[in-house]
Amino acid sequence: MTNTWILACATNDINDEDLLRFDYADKTFCIYNTTMGFYATDGMCTHEDEHLEFGMVIGTIVECPLHQGRFDIPSGEALSAPVCVDLKTYPVKIVNGNIYLDVG
Ligand code: FES
Repeated sequence: MTNTWILACATNDINDEDLLRFDYADKTFCIYNTTMGFYATDGMCTHEDEHLEFGMVIGTIVECPLHQGRFDIPSGEALSAPVCVDLKTYPVKIVNGNIYLDVG
């Protein structure tokens, strides 16, 4: 398996406990600035066809704006109904204040 590191944004593009949508090729992601650092997941909620870009970040949890299902951001684990399918997560790395996402 090969890594495919893509420059997504700068660390200071995302406020503390907030997220940013990032689209690349035919995929969409969310990049998070959590209380435990930066993480990335698929952008779409696993419950219905709703993007998490307007979701709320609480510590290391993101709450979907549509039905308030919650996911653990670092693991992608579905935490509360109505979500029951985990979010896919992606490795991130920080280089010189920029966030790279491994979309590979
Ligand atoms: S679409 Fe996200 S909880 Fe329903």
